[in-house]
Amino acid sequence: MELSLAFARAPVKPRAPRRRAGYAGPTVRKDDEPDRTEGDINLSPARRAWAARYLGPETRRWLEADEACFLRQSLSTPCLNVLRGCEGIYLEDLEGRRTMDFHGNNVHQVGFGHPRVIEAIKRQLDALPFCTRRYTCEPAVELARKLAELAPGRLKKVLLAPGGTTAIGMALKLARAATGRFKTISMWDSFHGASLDAISVGGEALFRRGIGPLLPGTEHVPPPDPSGCPFRCGTECSLQCADYVDYVLAKEGDVAAVVAETVRSTPSIPPPDYWRRVRAACDRHGALLILDEVPHALGRTGRMFTCEHFGIEPDMIVIGKGLGGGVFPLAALIAREDLDVLPEGALGHYTHEKSPVGCAAALATLAVIEEEKLLERSRRLGELALERMRAMMARHPLIGSVRGLGLLLGIELVKDRATRSPAVEEAERVMYRALEKGLSFKVTKGSILTLTPPLIIEEAELLRALAIIEECLVEVGSGGG
Ligand SMILES: Cc1ncc(COP(=O)(O)O)c(C=O)c1O
Repeated sequence: MELSLAFARAPVKPRAPRRRAGYAGPTVRKDDEPDRTEGDINLSPARRAWAARYLGPETRRWLEADEACFLRQSLSTPCLNVLRGCEGIYLEDLEGRRTMDFHGNNVHQVGFGHPRVIEAIKRQLDALPFCTRRYTCEPAVELARKLAELAPGRLKKVLLAPGGTTAIGMALKLARAATGRFKTISMWDSFHGASLDAISVGGEALFRRGIGPLLPGTEHVPPPDPSGCPFRCGTECSLQCADYVDYVLAKEGDVAAVVAETVRSTPSIPPPDYWRRVRAACDRHGALLILDEVPHALGRTGRMFTCEHFGIEPDMIVIGKGLGGGVFPLAALIAREDLDVLPEGALGHYTHEKSPVGCAAALATLAVIEEEKLLERSRRLGELALERMRAMMARHPLIGSVRGLGLLLGIELVKDRATRSPAVEEAERVMYRALEKGLSFKVTKGSILTLTPPLIIEEAELLRALAIIEECLVEVGSGGG
């Protein structure tokens, strides 16, 4: 009797909505949860514990001074540590500890302080340190010619800018000018820089939230990433997201450009046919295709331009980051020759547009990439790393998946391979343990160890880094770390 009364009084639970297999819904962050999309967060208890254990008093004084004098922002306040040097694949902190840098903001294709880059910069500083607007200079012209020579097909016209964000802004303006349209289609979760125009086409909540109205006409579609995909393709992309781009282009009818990262740094690598389908959709609907390769062009994925893996030619490509040799802020928009349609307008005109020193650094960087055969190296070492990572996966249940293209590598940690629930705390502990053992990398989406070593890395150093990660997985898996 009592039992039935208790039963009658039991609160009625709302029925959970039915979910088709493979679809967990988008990851929605609660207000009190840290945002881990862009990287590991720097306010967690694990971070505080690591800092207390690892950083000495002088380092802490500098970190406090940094916080006191800079405007604070997520991800970089407080900073991780204080650097006093960097060379090759290594960072050196204030306390003299050397760490392999598998993060490097993706500026370090040729490593830090490559002698040829430094030499070219020093020579240029003595000859012509700045190029006033209205003038041009030899290194700028040589660089534009070199980029046009390297870029695929009809991409022959270049405009330089002091950063990837500004180069993306120039591409958006050129797309408007060339098509007479203003709308764009871009991807949720993408990143194209932190300015208002770039966050409008970008799709990361961390950058878009609470900042007010963004650019009108910036439509978003799901990225080719099966995790949380609304098309419910399960563990492998079914390319319905590519067909959806075609659908939105048709419905809108007047889209200027599709703007997207060829691959994401997460890393997330679309299936081989994805870009062919999107390219065809753009052609059908008169939209341009702008590929953002700011972090990954110049060899990260084993090709000079990442789109070469997918057998397509975009209408514009944006590169940056390592273009300045890991020293100078420099980016470039490379566009189809016939898109040179705004001679009377202003696309960029940034103060350091034709920086002779930046261009000299870029020319030296491209020479190093070619002469030291860094594209081949990136492909060879990337395959070796992936093979080792697959073997690690067979030994460690914490690893849910491994992925890579060239030396853009990722190890996803999961609590349980069946449910694929992300092992967020474990990933963070692995990262801090690895830092103590001399290896720095970023954790993306909360649980993906994202590894982007300099392309000049020696095989033995790469294997040492993977061994460090494995040691950390063992320690964390057995409750340590
Ligand atoms: C894909 C992508 N696009 C654009 C940018 C912006 O580049 P920058 O920070 O040089 O302005 C970044 C920077 O991380 C990026 O990763």
